[in-house]
Amino acid sequence: MDKPEKNEECGCSRRAFIEKTIKGAGGLLFAASSLPMLAGCSDDSGSPVSPGGGGGSPVTVDLSQSQFASLASPGGSAALGANSLDSSGILIYRESESVFKAFSRRCTHSGCTINPFSGGISRCDCHGSQFSTSGSVVTGPANRALGQYTVNREGNILTIS
Ligand code: FES
Repeated sequence: MDKPEKNEECGCSRRAFIEKTIKGAGGLLFAASSLPMLAGCSDDSGSPVSPGGGGGSPVTVDLSQSQFASLASPGGSAALGANSLDSSGILIYRESESVFKAFSRRCTHSGCTINPFSGGISRCDCHGSQFSTSGSVVTGPANRALGQYTVNREGNILTIS
């Protein structure tokens, strides 16, 4: 009977070499097939989201325009659609006379666009997550706060960046 051939690379039998190679490839296949699943859940790590992906140009809002009349007093809010800063749009909330907050409308669960604030809550229609006017999660499945932008005010102009 012939001796099993040895593989020069690993010094093992051809059979052992093939088994080793298949196991390695299987691991790679598993890792590669897991990537989309991991990516789909990557927003659920519990840490804050950086909105907009960076690099977008600031957005200005003129409070004197009628479309922003809802921001005239504390507790008011407004919703912007997709813009140069955030492709999901932005929620603006007037917390006090002088404090405005702006959040990405990108749901931190899987990226759907969340609705304008209503009764102090913004809801995501995709899977039901809810966010408060501080951007924090009220109801999951999202488990990270909304991405928040900086808001600077000069007179009637808010600059969101
Ligand atoms: Fe799933 Fe918003 S994308 S709850």
